[in-house]
Amino acid sequence: MNKLSVLLVSGALLSPLWMSSASAQFAKPEDAIKYRQSAFVLLASQFGRMQPTVKGQVPYDAAAIKANVALVQTLSTLPWGAFGAGTEGKSSAKPEVWSDAAGFKAAQTKFESAIVKLSAAADSGDLDKLRAAFGDVGASCKACHDSYRIKK
Ligand code: HEC
Repeated sequence: MNKLSVLLVSGALLSPLWMSSASAQFAKPEDAIKYRQSAFVLLASQFGRMQPTVKGQVPYDAAAIKANVALVQTLSTLPWGAFGAGTEGKSSAKPEVWSDAAGFKAAQTKFESAIVKLSAAADSGDLDKLRAAFGDVGASCKACHDSYRIKK
């Protein structure tokens, strides 16, 4: 095998792995920052969309809420892989995201478990449970922002 075909073969074997990873490399730090901020914007929009239901302003459509929560759950996994080294100091993320990585990870874990509970509440079809779980998720967004996001 010549050098080129070795490269081609190893590239073909590796590329599916790279592509399957949500934390796949970004070409530039700015790309990572844009990615995580966009993910948060979508997450906030998809989450906030349930507010009228939770507030009782519209009838509770259990199937629609379930589908919405599934999207929120998917979106909730996206930002974290884009907080890599070299992306600090250029956005609304506080330096503590990196200097207190364990605390940031703990806030993320707390948020993720709140999302799991939101999903269970949506599955139950019980509006009171949904309301409580929605509030807990919102509190976990805020808890992380209070410590790790620069207020504008
Ligand atoms: C574990 C921490 C953490 C959790 C949980 C979290 N966020 Fe954030 N969020 C951040 C950080 C850090 C930033 C700043 C990102 C940046 O500027 O690079 C941010 C930024 C944002 C932004 C601004 C994006 C932009 O346009 O710059 C929005 C909107 C947002 N978050 C909404 C939410 C919502 C809604 C939730 C919960 C459903 C949530 N976040 C949960 C840490 C978190």
